Amino acid sequence: MEPEFLFANKEFSFNSTNEIQIPKDPLDQVIGQDEAVKIAKFAAKQRRNLLLVGPPGIGKSLIAQAVSYHLPKPASEVSVLHNPEYPERPIVEVKTKLDLEKETKMLSQSQGDLVSPTSVPSFVAERLGFRCRSCNVLSKPSVSTCPHCGTDKFTGDSNYSPFGDLLAPYFEESTKQERVHTTRTVGSGEEIIVYERAGEKIRVLEQTQLEKLDSLKRKKPRKVIIPLKRKAFVVATGASETELLGDVRHDPYGGHAGIGVQPYLRVVPGAIHESHEGVLFIDEISSLTFIQRYLLTAMQEKKYSIVGRNPHSAGASVKVEDVPCDFILIAASNINDLGQILPPLRSRIIGNGYEVLLDTHMPDSARNRGKLAQFIAQEIRKDGKIPHASFEAVSEIINIAKARAKIVDGADDALTLRLRELGGVVRLSGDYAKENGLIEKEDVKKALLKARNLEEQLRDKYGSMYKASLGDVGRVGKSEGKEIS
Ligand SMILES: Nc1ncnc2c1ncn2[C@@H]1O[C@H](COP(=O)(O)OP(=O)(O)OP(=O)(O)O)[C@@H](O)[C@H]1O
Ligand SMILES: [Mg+2]
Repeated sequence: MEPEFLFANKEFSFNSTNEIQIPKDPLDQVIGQDEAVKIAKFAAKQRRNLLLVGPPGIGKSLIAQAVSYHLPKPASEVSVLHNPEYPERPIVEVKTKLDLEKETKMLSQSQGDLVSPTSVPSFVAERLGFRCRSCNVLSKPSVSTCPHCGTDKFTGDSNYSPFGDLLAPYFEESTKQERVHTTRTVGSGEEIIVYERAGEKIRVLEQTQLEKLDSLKRKKPRKVIIPLKRKAFVVATGASETELLGDVRHDPYGGHAGIGVQPYLRVVPGAIHESHEGVLFIDEISSLTFIQRYLLTAMQEKKYSIVGRNPHSAGASVKVEDVPCDFILIAASNINDLGQILPPLRSRIIGNGYEVLLDTHMPDSARNRGKLAQFIAQEIRKDGKIPHASFEAVSEIINIAKARAKIVDGADDALTLRLRELGGVVRLSGDYAKENGLIEKEDVKKALLKARNLEEQLRDKYGSMYKASLGDVGRVGKSEGKEIS
C-alpha cells in the first residue's frame, strides 16, 4: 500500500502498519525533507559536497548515509609499497578493479593443473611418495609402508617392521620429495615441467605458468591500506588529526631491517583516505576546530600525504606522498554553530555542492499524514522488538506530531519533523503493547505520559524551572513545589 494515499481515501485505510509499503531506496525513507532529498540525489549523482543544517533528530545522519547507497561501489584499491632504496618513503600504488581481476586470473592460471598420480610418469609418482618401488601399486603418500606388499615405499626395504610408520619421517625426508623437476620435449626444444605434491593429488606446472608465478612473486612487498571491498560511508565526527589524516606508527627498533617493522607496514590511513570514492560524514563539523583547515586541502587536492604525526615517534621520519582521498564531504551542523565553520571550508562546499537547511515541520496534509504512517512503520521494523501499530494508534501519534509542531516550532496546522523524538514515542508505545497484539491508541497515551523530557517532568513536579532549581539546593518542599523559606 502506497503510504502517500493512506489518509487521502478511506479505501486505502489500513488495520496495521504491517500493510504499509516501505520504499527500498533509503533516501525515499527520509520523511518530509523533500528538498534536501532531491539535492542529496544530485549530490550522489554528480559527486557534490553537502552541508546539512538543522536541529537534532531530523534526519541529517540518515540523509548522509543514504547518499552513500546511491554511489557506485569503490573501484580501486590503494597500497603502499616497500621502497628498498629509501624505506622511509614508501610508494603509493593504486590498482583498479580491472587490474585486480587480471592479477587474480593470472594467479589462478599460474597454479597449474591438479592431476591424479596415475597420470604422471611412474618415476614421478614414486619420488613424490605415491608409488611402491617394489610392487608398483599406488597408495597415499602419507603412508610409508605399501598396503599391498608391506615394503617400505621410500627405502624399498621389504622387512616389515611394526615401527615402520613411526620411524618413517626420519627416512622420508631424504627419500620422499615435495617436488620433482624434469623436462619434456616440445617441438625441437625442451621445456621445464614441475610436479608438486598437493595432498592426494599432483600439481603440474608448465614453464609458462612457472614464469607467471615467478613474476608475481617478484612484486615488491606491499600493504593494502584501502581495500577494494570497503564501506562507502565513513564517519569522522569528533575525529582527531591522526584519525582524520592518517599516521605512521612507532617502532622501537626504528624500522631496522632485521628486527624492526618496515615503515610501509606501519602506515595507517586516515578517514579522508578510507572514504576515497565514498562519503566522508562529519557531524558537528565546527567541533573539528583547526583541523577543518587540513580538510580544505584534502578536498582541493583529492590526495593527501600520510606522515607520522608524533614528533617523538620513529614514524615521524616516514612519509607517503599523494595518497588518494577523493571523497564527497557531507557535513552537519546546527544553526548556532554555523559561525564556527571556517569560511574557506564553506566556500569549498558551496563551490562544489550545496548548503541545505532542513525543515523542522511539514504542512498537515493527507499526503504528509501518510508519510508519517510510513515513518511509524519504518521505526517499528527497524526496532524489530515491538509489534505493529493499529490505524487508531497511528492517528494518535500523528496528533502528537501536530501538537509538537505547535508547541516546539509555533507552527499551526503542521506536523513535526523532529522525528527522533517521535520515534521514541513509537518505541515506548510498543513496550506497552500486549505481546502478540498491536500497538493501540491506549498504549500511545500511556507512552506519552512517560515520554516527557526532564524539563517537562520538573515543571510538573515543581511548577516552574526556577522553583525546580531552588529544589535542587533543598530550599523547596519537593512534593508540593512550594518555597520553604
Ligand atoms: N526525516 C526523517 N525521516 C525518517 N526518519 C527520521 C527522520 N529524521 C529522523 N528520523 C529518525 O530519527 C533517527 C535519528 O535521525 P538522525 O540521526 O538522522 O538525526 P540527525 O539530524 O542526524 O540528529 P543529530 O543532529 O542529533 O545528529 C533516525 O535514525 C530515524 O529513525
Ligand atoms: Mg546525526
